[in-house]
Amino acid sequence: MDEEIFCRVRAAYTRIWHGPDAGEVDFGARPVHDALYAAMLESDEWQDILAAGRLCVVDLGAGRGSRLVRQLATRPGVTVVAVDCCLSFGAPNLAFPAGRLVADVRRPPLRDDCADVVVSAYVTVNNALFDTVDARRGYVREIVRLLRPGGLFWGEEPGLLPDEVTSQPGVTDYTGVDWAHVHCFRRA
Ligand SMILES: C[S@@+](CC[C@H](N)C(=O)[O-])C[C@H]1O[C@@H](n2cnc3c(N)ncnc32)[C@H](O)[C@@H]1O
Repeated sequence: MDEEIFCRVRAAYTRIWHGPDAGEVDFGARPVHDALYAAMLESDEWQDILAAGRLCVVDLGAGRGSRLVRQLATRPGVTVVAVDCCLSFGAPNLAFPAGRLVADVRRPPLRDDCADVVVSAYVTVNNALFDTVDARRGYVREIVRLLRPGGLFWGEEPGLLPDEVTSQPGVTDYTGVDWAHVHCFRRA
């Protein structure tokens, strides 16, 4: 049943990305939160992360590239791993150079603690795979698994509730920005 829903979600997104309505799901092309990113990137915790010479950013459900990742990818020393379930995601082009991984974001084949930053933008919303609280909590646990201790998560996920994030082991320093559907935390 789960596999069937996954195949349906993947088929629907593949159709959209290759059709005339691709712009509808390309949230990364919209400059709506750029002022928020600029302010956030100036904060001490982000400056600490960015000060590291090399940075691994994992963009979960990347599509053509999440907006914040498009900005991070321009910085020196940043390597991006873009994960999406669509076989030819980013069609026609991913917005930045990245390692592409075709996989289910609920269980990507990436090692524990591999990421300095994980981003997830508009992946869980209107997505039958994340209809239940358990599924959304499981996704947060997977994000925690990918982050190295001290690493940062940036989510723009309208379907996610703050307590579904904060209740998970390893989540610390949570900040939410309601109007932007932002969930940000540090891995303990
Ligand atoms: C609305 S688009 C957003 C894309 C991008 N994050 C942005 O901000 O523009 C959601 C993306 O999540 C991907 N996606 C949804 N469920 C997924 C899953 N279980 N595993 C991998 N990718 C998934 C879809 O294929 C689609 O490309």
